[in-house]
Amino acid sequence: MSENRVPTVVSTVPFEDQKPGTSGLRKAVPVFQQPHYLENFVQSVFDSLPDHAGQTLVVGGDGRFLNVEATQTILRMAAANGIGRVLVGRSGLLSTPAVSCLIRKYKAYGGFVLSASHNPGGAEGDFGIKYNIGNGGPAPESLTETIFAASKTISRFLTVDAPHCDLAHLGDCRLGNTAVQVIDPVADYAALMESLFDFDAISALLKTPGFRMRFDAMHAVTGPYATEILEKRLGAPAGSVVNAVPLPDFGGGHPDPNLTHAADLVAALRGKDALDFGAASDGDGDRNMILGANAFVTPSDSLAIIAANSGLVPGYAGRLTGIARSMPTSRAADRVAAALGVPCFETPTGWKFFGTLLDAGKATFCGEESFGTGSDHVREKDGLWAVLYWLNILAKTRKPVGEILAAHWRAHGRDYYTRHDYEAIDADAAQALMRDLRSAHLTGRNLGGREVTLHDDFAYTDPVNGEKTAGQGIRVGFADGARLVFRLSGTGTSGATLRIYIERFEAAPERQGLDPQTALADLIAAAKEIAGIESRTGRTAPDVIT
Ligand code: G1P
Ligand code: ZN
Repeated sequence: MSENRVPTVVSTVPFEDQKPGTSGLRKAVPVFQQPHYLENFVQSVFDSLPDHAGQTLVVGGDGRFLNVEATQTILRMAAANGIGRVLVGRSGLLSTPAVSCLIRKYKAYGGFVLSASHNPGGAEGDFGIKYNIGNGGPAPESLTETIFAASKTISRFLTVDAPHCDLAHLGDCRLGNTAVQVIDPVADYAALMESLFDFDAISALLKTPGFRMRFDAMHAVTGPYATEILEKRLGAPAGSVVNAVPLPDFGGGHPDPNLTHAADLVAALRGKDALDFGAASDGDGDRNMILGANAFVTPSDSLAIIAANSGLVPGYAGRLTGIARSMPTSRAADRVAAALGVPCFETPTGWKFFGTLLDAGKATFCGEESFGTGSDHVREKDGLWAVLYWLNILAKTRKPVGEILAAHWRAHGRDYYTRHDYEAIDADAAQALMRDLRSAHLTGRNLGGREVTLHDDFAYTDPVNGEKTAGQGIRVGFADGARLVFRLSGTGTSGATLRIYIERFEAAPERQGLDPQTALADLIAAAKEIAGIESRTGRTAPDVIT
């Protein structure tokens, strides 16, 4: 028996702050660099999964600082905890949707995703770890609570004394009884995409003289995926994918595909010489932004348009059962669902709440206003999937993005929408603001000419398994259908981030062409006033507007 088969038992003491948030455990890099911090969490996961022995795990991350070291640590701990086989992406890379795809395809027991999503990377940035279960989706609340409880009482973790596996090359590595397979991070995911979309039609579009597109990988994990799929398989001109090499610090950028952080891309889609199509994805590849020439598709509208056009896409034609959206996402999808006669589910924020609906076949498409869109093909949101879906729509309709948007609004009405984020505000002030907003008497009051007809703190009962989740955001609804939502971020790592979601419906086509900030100006003012933003936070304007 080789020496490294014998697990080493290392004594440890608990950390108090290992409660997973909206999307796994996310902390500043120095927090993860504390001795045993990562090990404690990983062991807490294994200790919460009693039947993991001999099973297959998938491990990979978005390439950020600590990705490779953390991967090696997890491999040794997986071996010590009796995992049978680990599939790990070459160089430790796997996008979040690719992890989900692999877990499902190879019937793995679960997987670890190493990412802090769109948060900045590098030694000064953030790191994160998330456990996904056998359906390929994020662990449900019940499991994350068990893991958190285990992390509070942990006294030892298991590892093996073994040299590092070579992650730079495809091939096998043995750690004791555990087989580690270093796999191509892209191949299985690309095959899945090819099975869903009309690659011939998209390829013809991308090769059409005069059609110009750009995909910005933001120096994060989607670079290799987009290069393989868009350039190699679909024939987009070389250079269509920019910032394609994943870097540990994402090139110093903020890998969040929105109007603020993807400014270069946004600029290339503006003006007389605008490109025809632009898209970007985030650190770990689950978010997306869709742009056309002088057109921005809000993620809420994207979900609605994706659902309305499913007949054009081979993997979805004729099989739409329902749509799900997170509560703060606009009601555009609800209108499409009503028109198609399928249900629309409203869930708390976070992709994990879609898992049961997708597993039960109740929803085909899911989306969040935070640049997340996806379907039942995996159990994570999927950035490149959304890009390919839009290219499929463009290829079949041969219409510009702006025209598709305008036509959709004419048919279903427009939900003007914006989100205002106040970042890194004082945590106590933020808590007080939310508490007072919760207990304020707003129903029946007139705010800026609108009567308040709904004022509650969103609570959800999962229609599949009955799990209840409360305190998910304060909703203020008005008689004309306009709505404000206030909630605190569950993914931020410093202070508190207040998110205010603002929307109203416009049925008249002649009034659908306004800038959302203008169209929503009175509601924005009302939101600032009832929350007392300025007096409580000292801020006069949001940090990020999307
Ligand atoms: C944010 C988004 C949410 C998304 C999550 C993970 O969470 O708002 O929709 O699911 O990131 O990408 P928050 O920081 O608001 O808790
Ligand atoms: Zn992400």
